[in-house]
Amino acid sequence: MKKAFKILLYLIIAVAVIILSFIAYIQIKGIPKYDPPVIKELTINPTPEKVEEGARISSLLCSNCHLGKDGRLSGGPMKDLDPSFGKVWSRNITNHPTYGIGKWTPGEIAYFLRTGVRKDGTYAPIWMPKFTNLSDADLECIICFLKSDMPMLQASEAVHPADQISFLSKFLCNVVFKPMTFPDKPIVAPDTSDRVAYGKYVLQSKIECFTCHSADFKKLDMLVPEHSMGYLGGGNTLIDLEGRKIYSANITPDPVTGIGKWTYEDFYKAMKEGKRPDGKLLRYPMTPKTAMKDFEIQGIWAYLQTVPRITNVVDRTGL
Ligand code: HEC
Ligand code: HEC
Repeated sequence: MKKAFKILLYLIIAVAVIILSFIAYIQIKGIPKYDPPVIKELTINPTPEKVEEGARISSLLCSNCHLGKDGRLSGGPMKDLDPSFGKVWSRNITNHPTYGIGKWTPGEIAYFLRTGVRKDGTYAPIWMPKFTNLSDADLECIICFLKSDMPMLQASEAVHPADQISFLSKFLCNVVFKPMTFPDKPIVAPDTSDRVAYGKYVLQSKIECFTCHSADFKKLDMLVPEHSMGYLGGGNTLIDLEGRKIYSANITPDPVTGIGKWTYEDFYKAMKEGKRPDGKLLRYPMTPKTAMKDFEIQGIWAYLQTVPRITNVVDRTGL
């Protein structure tokens, strides 16, 4: 009996040592670094139209996180990140050669935006989205904009404190989150005349509504977004400007818990003015998408009608 007890005790100690060593290993290792990638150079052909379109897409896709106090894309604290991931700052992506990305080539920017890996092999975790399925043409517009001399990109000297990354984030980055693969085939967006297909593209890849509007950032499928847990059924945790938790809405066509009873006009107003049919204003981070074009809103609306309904009551306290 005594012997059995001793063996059990040793076993418990051994398991505890293994667990503690694993925790220490993850803590020290932090976010994994990968082999520096082989990056194919990319030629961009900037035109005023592409720069303008890149600026418009970026205002919908990047500014929310990268807009700094100086009115440029100089980065700042990620206020709406769930604190369980840690405290993180978005980077200075202005043209500054040292503090910004002035020295990055178009190929390096494209590689990073698609995979999350920089040319030195360092990896940006989930708080920097990956634009894996964005069309080559839309990506080129964004890069033309980032390489332009628009006021938002004028060299800024902003530097930010080092990130305080939580154990959870380090753990997830070592076990679950891996860099995306750089696509080896051209990516072409569906034709805008095919509303459902184009709307799906906008919602999944061009403005990425599905990331916030599914159930959990940790359970997203970036390659096949409709495989994400609770796809478009809402409930994902975000943080408002006062640091309080706010949950994304259910935007599936469920008539009771989703937006199944809304008309196109209701939806249009919610997108452009941030106003619900009952007159209530949608709260941060669901900011009005003033820069969205009508055909994009029409497309998303058409696509939403085809999405499986999810019955999910979301806590909208305070609305
Ligand atoms: C949800 C917030 C968020 C959005 C949206 C976002 N970013 Fe980021 N971005 C970040 C954070 C946070 C980092 C820092 C990542 C890290 O810790 O490595 C970052 C890092 C970067 C970097 C790396 C800069 C460097 O010096 O290493 C680039 C380039 C970048 N983002 C460009 C963009 C562009 C272009 C867009 C829009 C197409 C965009 N980001 C959208 C949050 C965001
Ligand atoms: C940064 C995260 C985020 C992104 C990106 C985002 N949303 Fe939202 N959305 C939210 C949150 C949070 C709410 C709830 C706001 C509230 O309760 O005041 C919301 C609310 C809504 C509502 C209101 C539904 C209702 O029942 O009140 C609609 C419609 C909507 N979003 C559609 C979209 C579409 C379409 C896109 C992409 C173009 C999008 N959202 C992108 C976070 C986001």
